[in-house]
Amino acid sequence: MRIAIEGCAHGELDIIYDSIREVEKNTGQKVDLLLCCGDFQSTRNVGDLNCMAVPDKYKQIRTFHKYYSGEKSAPVLTIFIGGNHEASNYLQELPYGGWVAPNIYYMGYASVVTIGDIRIAGISGIYKEQDLQYGHFETPPYDRSTIRSVYHTRNIEVFRLKQLSGKIDIFLSHDWPCGVTKYGNEEDLIRRKPYFEKDIQTNSLGSPPCMELLRHHYPSYWFSAHLHCKYAALVPKEESDTVTKFLALDKCLPERKFLQILDIPHNHNQSLSLSYDLEWLTILFLTNHLLNVQKSRQHMPTSDAIGRWKYTPTESEKKSVLEKFNNNLKIPLNFKQTAQSFDSKDPLNSRNVTFQINYQTTDFCQKLGIDDPSFLLKILRNEKIEDISPSKRKEPEDEEIEEDEDEEMLSEPSSTISSFQHISSSFCDSTCDDSMTDTSTSISTSPTTPSTGTSDKPVEPTMKKFRRRNFSIYESIM
Ligand SMILES: [Fe+2]
Repeated sequence: MRIAIEGCAHGELDIIYDSIREVEKNTGQKVDLLLCCGDFQSTRNVGDLNCMAVPDKYKQIRTFHKYYSGEKSAPVLTIFIGGNHEASNYLQELPYGGWVAPNIYYMGYASVVTIGDIRIAGISGIYKEQDLQYGHFETPPYDRSTIRSVYHTRNIEVFRLKQLSGKIDIFLSHDWPCGVTKYGNEEDLIRRKPYFEKDIQTNSLGSPPCMELLRHHYPSYWFSAHLHCKYAALVPKEESDTVTKFLALDKCLPERKFLQILDIPHNHNQSLSLSYDLEWLTILFLTNHLLNVQKSRQHMPTSDAIGRWKYTPTESEKKSVLEKFNNNLKIPLNFKQTAQSFDSKDPLNSRNVTFQINYQTTDFCQKLGIDDPSFLLKILRNEKIEDISPSKRKEPEDEEIEEDEDEEMLSEPSSTISSFQHISSSFCDSTCDDSMTDTSTSISTSPTTPSTGTSDKPVEPTMKKFRRRNFSIYESIM
């Protein structure tokens, strides 16, 4: 499978697709898949631009709206995670992933999908310690604080991703796993980016949860963006031959290394259609009770917890979820517009901020039997919504959030680009192999609580804790 990996897209889809066409023309080989590591900027209209955390001078509509409206079509299946410059109102409609335009799929807060036999995991947003334990409480229209905190990574996604077992071929994150620089040519990086030096020395460059996930799974490849430079590293697993090939890419600008082409061996007997990952679906189902949409802190279950704390699914739990999907995990091609598209003749036609219940999420949640955070948030705002499962108690705490500063320098992208010289396959040449090692690990191996770690029986999501956490929301519609 031939995969193109993009660093920060910053809304420059025309340039990225043109670059891929140029690669295909020069190599005579078709690219099967484009992966974007965040700052995708899926801004449909002016209202979406106002939900994006960037200085006003960078609030430019760029090119996504053409693919959203149907004026253009994405020439290659495109999958992306969120970064810290996004149309956050639109992405919030798709917390578990979905199509933002035909052939362009957003992975949600976190998810795992498969294409053929290639398994791709991703986590959106960037790390900010002070927001890690909050629920997904933000809702449009955002204020000065929530327009930033909305894209901060939450512990529920990290916890869920840690429940995965088996090999992961590719992992995507926007910010770099913290400490990854020491597995590459750090000296050269500091020479190119001297202002990274202090953060590298204090081990504060990047995301600690991402490094936890990397060390938990040791995926074959880990791709990131955010810091706007290309950087490669090899992260070895101790006492093992397993190694994760890390690559960060630049943003989409002339003379920048923003695109990488990679050939990954795959089973040619399997079609390259996009599918859900059964283990991930089952984890979502089993951990629905951990969903929190309030500004309250919560800890994820540990071996000290009463009740189940390990959610790596059993075979019978996965079977039960597979049946919910009628044994068909193919992701439906069910994109529909939920807001007006930008019109250059009437740019202000769509300046209102919209936050819709997206039917893709509704379908997905109904099929799996989990809750849509957008439903819950709308109920908190006293918008009448039907079809919510009942629940029963309240979580008392409500802590203040500090405003954060995670702005990065954005430069003006150019409207023209000749990029082929910046697209290399050297990373692939030096690091590709087909020895995709099984990096299966469990969340804990505490011998004292084996009976509560997991279960052999299919289990409905634990509603008690969910009731406790979200009671005030459900109470209002009961
Ligand atoms: Fe970024």
